[in-house]
Amino acid sequence: MGKTVMLYEGKAKKVWATEDDALCIVSYKDDATAFNGLKKGTIVGKGSINNRVSNFFMSIIEKRGVPTHVVKELNDRETLVKRVEIVPLEVIVRNIAAGSLAKRLGLEEGIVMSQPVIEFCYKNDELNDPMVNTSHIIAMNFATRKELDIITKYSLIVNEVLQEILKEDNITLVDFKIEFGREKDGTIILADEISPDTCRFWDSTTNEKLDKDRFRRDLGGVEDAYKEILKRVMGKK
Ligand code: TMP
Ligand code: ASP
Repeated sequence: MGKTVMLYEGKAKKVWATEDDALCIVSYKDDATAFNGLKKGTIVGKGSINNRVSNFFMSIIEKRGVPTHVVKELNDRETLVKRVEIVPLEVIVRNIAAGSLAKRLGLEEGIVMSQPVIEFCYKNDELNDPMVNTSHIIAMNFATRKELDIITKYSLIVNEVLQEILKEDNITLVDFKIEFGREKDGTIILADEISPDTCRFWDSTTNEKLDKDRFRRDLGGVEDAYKEILKRVMGKK
């Protein structure tokens, strides 16, 4: 299965059509952006690490009953995936207060919450991905109530599965962002990626940040953090 035309170039990935209109190829880039593209840079090796780590997570998630877009890892940077219509929502699941939640509610980063928090943002760069609630989502037809119930159920399963995997690697899953897509027949599946770009990973002993916050906050050691995640998560593979 080969690439034909490029369908889309995002900030971290390119998406190509293939000869089969039900499938496309995702190509992960080393480019990094933050604050809706205001900050730009390169994280050497990121594309390959995110591709492999995301596929590994998704393979386990799939086994636990959440369908995903992954069909086959083609090489270091490229994966064959099911072609979907992306549901225009960023689903954020949080276990520990950090980032925008800590800021919005005036909380210290690191506070463990009594249950996971789930947030939805409308995927729209021009509007800066504003947070929306269930009522907005249904009223604007971003998703139906039925789809939203499935998305919520799947997101909480993803949280459980990732926490279990990462615990073995002495990593705390602070929060993450995922996206879903619709197949032609309307089936909701997990799409996009799960990687240090889209999750907050803290070393469970030291609380050292092992994710894109090192880039966002100019903490240094960005490449090493991504390599460390690859080593801990896939080292046993
Ligand atoms: P936040 O605290 O900045 O809202 O981020 C919550 C989680 O979502 C965090 O794990 C980083 C991830 N995230 C993305 O994947 N893409 C984004 O554009 C943003 C703002 C956050
Ligand atoms: N999606 C954000 C941006 O482009 C990146 C982030 O903070 O993760 O710039």
